[in-house]
Amino acid sequence: MQKIAIYPGSFDPITNGHLDIIRRSRLLLDKIIIAVNDNPSKTFLFTVKERTEMIKGAIPASPGIEVESFRGLLVRYAEKKGARFIIRGLRALSDFEYEFQMDLMNRKLSPGIETIFLMTSQKYSYLSSSIIKEIVQLKGCSEGLIPEIVREKLLEKFKNNF
Ligand code: COA
Repeated sequence: MQKIAIYPGSFDPITNGHLDIIRRSRLLLDKIIIAVNDNPSKTFLFTVKERTEMIKGAIPASPGIEVESFRGLLVRYAEKKGARFIIRGLRALSDFEYEFQMDLMNRKLSPGIETIFLMTSQKYSYLSSSIIKEIVQLKGCSEGLIPEIVREKLLEKFKNNF
């Protein structure tokens, strides 16, 4: 039976920290579906289409990796895709409480789905999408932290602010 996992997130935008989690989880599982959350009640810098396209542009086409967007409950989406696993990255102790809560709730909603947590590689442990947006907007150096396509899209977004 194929081991399919969902890697969900806002990805506003995707960073090299997320890519590291995707690469490592792909070594453990047969298929990773990167699922971009389309939450109309949240404010994002990039539209769901832009976030999805950036991920597709940052990851070389591979038979074991898919990129999609989803709305509604994550576990319902996972069930629909035949995924028994959810992947989440942990960067620091501060991530733990929120992730633990989500894991417990997701398991209550769908007991057959397990969340697998991967510790973020140390070099990305201080990264977040918000910090990246701020750095690029303020013309700081983002080298090695985000894919080139993301850097270009951020510069485009902020061009009127420069
Ligand atoms: N490297 C770099 N940054 C990382 C990271 C990593 N490995 N892991 C997390 N982050 C950062 C993200 O960049 C983001 O930063 P920001 O807050 O500055 O934007 C932050 O951690 C959290 O982002 P993300 O992992 O994308 O989680 P999220 O809270 O935006 O999304 C969902 C969480 C989408 C999985 C969750 O809200 C969900 O499942 N929603 C669907 C509705 C649902 O089912 N709700 C019930 C859940 S119990």
